[in-house]
Amino acid sequence: MYTLSELENRRTRRISSVNRLHKEEFSQYLTPIEIASFMAKITTKYCMIKDTIDILDPGAGSGILSCSLISELKSKNRKININVDAYEIDNSILNELEASFQIIKKYTNISYNISNKNFISDVGSDILWGINKHYDMIIMNPPYKKIGTHSEYRNVLHDIGVETVNTYSAFMAIAIKLLSENSILTAIVPRSFCNGLYFLPFRKYINNNTAIQHIHIFESRKDNFKDENVLQENIVIVLKKTKIKPKKITLSYSKGKDLSSFCEQEVSANLIINAADNQRFISIPGYNQSAESVPLIYSNKEIGFEISTGPIVDFRMKDKLAYDVNKGDIPLLYTVHIRNQKLTWPVISKKPNVIILNETEKVKYCFKKGFYILIKRFSSKEERHRIQATLISPNDISSEYFTVENHLNIIHCNKGGLDKDLAFALAAYLNSDYCDNIFRKFSGHTQINATDLRNMKYPNLERFKNWSE
Ligand SMILES: C[S@@+](CC[C@H](N)C(=O)[O-])C[C@H]1O[C@@H](n2cnc3c(N)ncnc32)[C@H](O)[C@@H]1O
Repeated sequence: MYTLSELENRRTRRISSVNRLHKEEFSQYLTPIEIASFMAKITTKYCMIKDTIDILDPGAGSGILSCSLISELKSKNRKININVDAYEIDNSILNELEASFQIIKKYTNISYNISNKNFISDVGSDILWGINKHYDMIIMNPPYKKIGTHSEYRNVLHDIGVETVNTYSAFMAIAIKLLSENSILTAIVPRSFCNGLYFLPFRKYINNNTAIQHIHIFESRKDNFKDENVLQENIVIVLKKTKIKPKKITLSYSKGKDLSSFCEQEVSANLIINAADNQRFISIPGYNQSAESVPLIYSNKEIGFEISTGPIVDFRMKDKLAYDVNKGDIPLLYTVHIRNQKLTWPVISKKPNVIILNETEKVKYCFKKGFYILIKRFSSKEERHRIQATLISPNDISSEYFTVENHLNIIHCNKGGLDKDLAFALAAYLNSDYCDNIFRKFSGHTQINATDLRNMKYPNLERFKNWSE
């Protein structure tokens, strides 16, 4: 539509005229028109279109999201009455926002109100006083920033019963409070809230107040905000304020913002959110990837292994570390000791090879030689698999005890070695494409936390033992 291309031209002009620091300060990364139009389309798909619609655009930027939504609604019903409220704290973009609504107003009749207010603190206190409005549709690309434990945002959010750690989830939680019953929130956000301990209260909040209708996955993270240099792994999520959970959830996929490669499938809601999972993980399978082909039903404890982060934080124990190996020293394993999924120790590198510990420290920090699995905590995006599991056997270790530095996770059994068959089968499973897909479904980042591995479910032992890629 002509008006929208005019808005897109203004967006690209704005992006090139604003410096990086300003963008970072406001977390201001403007949504490309292709994604804005797509978000508008899926918003209207899940909402009843009434004669009068109240729209909210929090963190509106230049207004591309609400303008796309208006345009979509008008294409469905020219007579519809639309009121838009837009919140934006950056004074320098308010003229653009005003101009966008004026452009839309030339073609269609809408009323709009721009508030130069803080959506978290100001609207949060409106909610506290019970003087907030309610909306039929909320569309957002919120700012992404960590919220500090003692920040003003934390206090405001706490007062309105929201516990969360990032501005994007705070925006979503406040928006959910502003939705009328059966109304829709559509947000483009990082997928980091789908797993991890910090977002658990937020996931519970979503689960208690809304039902997921649709999740769109951008399979290439490079494309979406390329002109903004943003490399976040984003999803678009559509939430309906209702207690009725749908049996199916729509998943759609595209390669970045190129929505021509778009495909869609409906999957059982249970596969996305397992009602029995007290972590409330939101699992997102890849296209046509059945999450059911191997039943994943056992916890690590049921199978008989534990996962820990390497206990040695080297900068706290500098005086105990050494590069040269002497009799009685304890091997200290770092990621540099892992090459092509094999343990190579000792090596000449910037990292020490051994640690010198007294008997008490040995009990606290060491593992007796045996079969173990080491997993790097940080994988790089280029690596084929997120999880890189390295099996170590008693032959790999020269002394009776060894220990592990903090950038590695170690799989063990009560601080002792694993059963040999289990160790081989588990390493094969963890390195398989299948496991990689499962892991990627709930983790959008390259970090492999021991908690994530503990919260994963595993196939049964026999299947484990016969596993091959
Ligand atoms: C990621 S940008 C998205 C802008 C626009 N919605 C879009 O999709 O192009 C987030 C916007 O939120 C604004 N913002 C950041 N913190 C805010 C806050 N606490 N209250 C209101 N607006 C905020 C920023 O200035 C920025 O324009």
